[in-house]
Amino acid sequence: MLPRGWILVALGSILFALAGCSSPASMLEPSGPAAAQIANLWWVYLILGVLVWVIVLALILVALFHIRRPDEPSPETSSRFGGDTPIILGGVALPAVVLVALFLFTIGTLRALPTVQPNTLNIEVTGLQWWWRVHYPDGRVTTANEIHIPVGRTVQLLLNSDDVIHSFWVPRLHGKVDMIPGKTNTLVLQADTLGEYVGECAEFCGTQHARMHLRLIAMPPDEFDAWLDAQSRPAPDPANSTLREGQQIFLGSACVYCHTIRGTNASGVLGPDLTHLASRRTLAAGVVPNTGGYLTGWIADPHGIKPGNRMPPTLMDADDLNLLVTYLESLE
Ligand code: CUA
Repeated sequence: MLPRGWILVALGSILFALAGCSSPASMLEPSGPAAAQIANLWWVYLILGVLVWVIVLALILVALFHIRRPDEPSPETSSRFGGDTPIILGGVALPAVVLVALFLFTIGTLRALPTVQPNTLNIEVTGLQWWWRVHYPDGRVTTANEIHIPVGRTVQLLLNSDDVIHSFWVPRLHGKVDMIPGKTNTLVLQADTLGEYVGECAEFCGTQHARMHLRLIAMPPDEFDAWLDAQSRPAPDPANSTLREGQQIFLGSACVYCHTIRGTNASGVLGPDLTHLASRRTLAAGVVPNTGGYLTGWIADPHGIKPGNRMPPTLMDADDLNLLVTYLESLE
């Protein structure tokens, strides 16, 4: 008998592992046709894998506990198991059948994944250390770390990288696809229900790989059109003197070398486009919420929030920093 403590530890470990099956990023809770196909495939692999494991374990136990009687002939001379037949059956035929079946099922899954339709929306997503540039060629919109899509419509993501290899993964909508410098990979997905889906970079890409988060927001089609229209507009002119001062501080600082605000002279492309910064939910690729406090902290000490990232700290006095943040927060 196992001591009770061990049984409790084993049960606790199983529950702990199972807790990972339900999360906002679980591929077992698919919300689109591609992810549903992949989840089906996963279940088939799991069930077949468990079946094979149980059979093999049972055979090992039979072998372990089969004790020969003294008068029983040794296995070399015994024909009780039919000579080479079990080896051919268990070692070659069965694995071949299982593997061919899984292979065919996998091919079927690949063929059932969504494909480009006449009304498919194209979105370019570029992986960078450690954030995502998101560009809508049709709306001439560039944003960062959030991908808005219309619900129920196929979307083709054109995936690329500007530095090292990253991997795009929104588990509830599709599998992973590598983002490789100099090469465009595509991923066609569709969200069946409204809501926010979390995504991650799934290929180690440097010190902040684990904090390269992504959000995919599926909206009703008319809301999506309104969103794209609003995002395609240049930043509004500052509405009052405070915002005007803040804008002057921005344009007079080093910010303009890396960031774009459409409608101004700032047209840097190394960092995220800030034209509609205030409309985004997070800063630093999902690391902190997009609030005035965090934005101030991010500008003054970006490495305190995300060590090793490419944004240099900006030295300015507190009043200027406040004006700058007030201006950036007005960029809805
Ligand atoms: Cu980008 Cu990991």
